[in-house]
Amino acid sequence: MRQYLVAGNWKSNGNTESNAALIGGLKSTAIGDNVEVLVCPPILYISAVQAETADTAIEVGAQNCSATQEGAYTGEVTSAMLADAGLKWVIIGHSERRTLFGETDEVVAAKVKEAVAAGVKPIICIGETLEERETGQAEAVCLRQMDAVLATNAPSADWVIAYEPVWAIGTGKTASSADAQEMHGALRRYLREKAGDVAEDMRILYGGSVKPGNAAELFGQEDIDGALVGGASLKAEDFAGIIAAANA
Ligand code: 13P
Repeated sequence: MRQYLVAGNWKSNGNTESNAALIGGLKSTAIGDNVEVLVCPPILYISAVQAETADTAIEVGAQNCSATQEGAYTGEVTSAMLADAGLKWVIIGHSERRTLFGETDEVVAAKVKEAVAAGVKPIICIGETLEERETGQAEAVCLRQMDAVLATNAPSADWVIAYEPVWAIGTGKTASSADAQEMHGALRRYLREKAGDVAEDMRILYGGSVKPGNAAELFGQEDIDGALVGGASLKAEDFAGIIAAANA
């Protein structure tokens, strides 16, 4: 049975004070046995957030990692450094990194390789744009993005896939639970074809305007194993509401 994963991607938001207030506000949130909760702050705040969550079940991850190992790569943080800092998770290939920072499918695959080699579990983001959905290419785009990772990496039950339709990110538009399930089901079938039984253990998260009000319906779908949450993960009450929906 797959455990739900509710992961907060704080993106480039927050400061020392607001981060402490956010974690403080989450401390009393019950986390069910079948639920894992993760927050991914900006890299500079990770150690402070680790200290603030030390006596909680909340895990801490990174939002990005380098495609390279250590060396002369100014500004890059390697997966080995993330592991050294005690992190078990890293988000890879978020659509903002793909569209705003030029990350190709190949770069995403290289980052997954580095993360896995360092013992950091990747949350691999995929998803189509509105134009791709409207022209009937949504599934093909997601499978192409998945294929690039599969081409150079052995699939593992530790992988988490985050299906985040680009048009639903930060827009208030969510895929209907039926549309999301259709894509998650297609992804699971594809992963089963490529990876066999391990696909049953891989968690596939939905991301894109997840809120307390739509989380329960999304989590009720067979192949939706949690959420990657942006805006609503910055408000303790909203993130707690999404965790509560996974607990139920
Ligand atoms: P929103 O929840 O703000 O739409 O962001 C989703 C996202 O990009 C999470 O990685």
